[in-house]
Amino acid sequence: MFQVPRGTRDFTPDEMRKRRYLEQTMAATFTSFGYGEIQTPTFENLELFTAKSGESIINELYAFTDKGGRELALRPELTAPVIRCYVEKLQMEPKPLKLFYFGNCYRYDRPQKGRYREFQQAGCEIIGTDTYEATAELMALAFTLLKNTGLKNIQLNIGNLTIIGAILKNLCLLEDDQKRLLPFIDKAQFDDVKSVLRDSNVSENDAERFISVLQTSDINEIRGFITDDPTAVKELDAMETILSLLKNAFHISEYEIKLSIVRGLDYYKGLVFEIDAPVLGAEKQLCGGGSYELVSLFGGSEVPTSGFAIGFDRTILALEEEGFPFPPLKLDVFIVPVNPDMIPTSIQISQELRSHGLSVDFDQLRRGVGKSLKYADAKHIERVVIVGPKELETHTVTVRDMKTGNQETVAITEIYSKLKKPDV
Ligand code: HAM
Repeated sequence: MFQVPRGTRDFTPDEMRKRRYLEQTMAATFTSFGYGEIQTPTFENLELFTAKSGESIINELYAFTDKGGRELALRPELTAPVIRCYVEKLQMEPKPLKLFYFGNCYRYDRPQKGRYREFQQAGCEIIGTDTYEATAELMALAFTLLKNTGLKNIQLNIGNLTIIGAILKNLCLLEDDQKRLLPFIDKAQFDDVKSVLRDSNVSENDAERFISVLQTSDINEIRGFITDDPTAVKELDAMETILSLLKNAFHISEYEIKLSIVRGLDYYKGLVFEIDAPVLGAEKQLCGGGSYELVSLFGGSEVPTSGFAIGFDRTILALEEEGFPFPPLKLDVFIVPVNPDMIPTSIQISQELRSHGLSVDFDQLRRGVGKSLKYADAKHIERVVIVGPKELETHTVTVRDMKTGNQETVAITEIYSKLKKPDV
């Protein structure tokens, strides 16, 4: 017996129905915010991912050498590929360039619920602007995408790497120690944060204050900590303006400032954010993003860039946990030929209804009316058309409503107007 490789999954029609629903809803939302879709290859040159993060990232990748000796990797995310494509082909496009994508990603992660080795992201990048309104809109879009899927309980957390960097510089932390600290901050392991600070000769009092700043969502408390750093003050002022647009113009108030959001990837700078679904427990992060720098590293002329990606698989898990009623996948009509002579007419009626956009199937097992009705019932099909010899003589068929059991005789020429979906 063969099984799927570790960390990968098959998707049955029932699961694909949920995934397609999500894709359609998200694509419509991206489009409504002026984004155009982009697609890049599933594998890229390995260097694209090591350029910023260094060789150590290879441990987390599916990296391989092809028959021509090229060093390649399955993409772990789409930001670097999209920026590669921008630098290669799209630099002359009018700005801002708003690009969205759906794509499979591959990471050599330890699989568990909500964490896979193959997973899908829905994301976007905006290239060429970092105005307050652009940044506020980016977070509003991430939030709206998730809300529009039907999710009820989500929380947007906003951090800022410039402010964290300034605070750490004030604490006289060397760059290496700062780097060592960030993963502990990211995972909210504050005891470890304290011990790194202690090792770096930061006083107990400053360490305590730093940890309380990481945990507060009070902008004034943060302000108190950064008064002597003009860069950080400017950044905090900018954040205040962005948050006011988010709240008062985009009408999104389910957010918190959380300086402990520092993001795992190496290309971020300035404002970063994450959206969580508390209902998921451990792997609750649905979305991550922020502003970053990659264009000049890839050989392009520097422009502001920011974006985010939503974990598709976790969004479905969260919707399931919240009991969301995904639109059902079911046939509109099932057609039953009473005997084999009725098959050609049944096919013709199926084709006629399909050409009008209904989803239709006809009995291909020759199982007779009784068993066909049982089948239609098991598949939750609401309407059945029975094609019998007596009716056919008068160019009619029998239409059965499976919910009520009512049957009526309908002229074949009238069958579509009888069965068509109500206008919505
Ligand atoms: P990321 O936070 O690494 O960011 O991934 C985004 C989302 O993908 C996560 O919030 C999570 O929902 C989902 N995800 C990540 N790893 C897995 C996994 N192993 N299994 C299932 N889902 C997973 C990025 O990838 C950035 N490129 C986002 C970005 C775009 N930043 C700027 N532009």
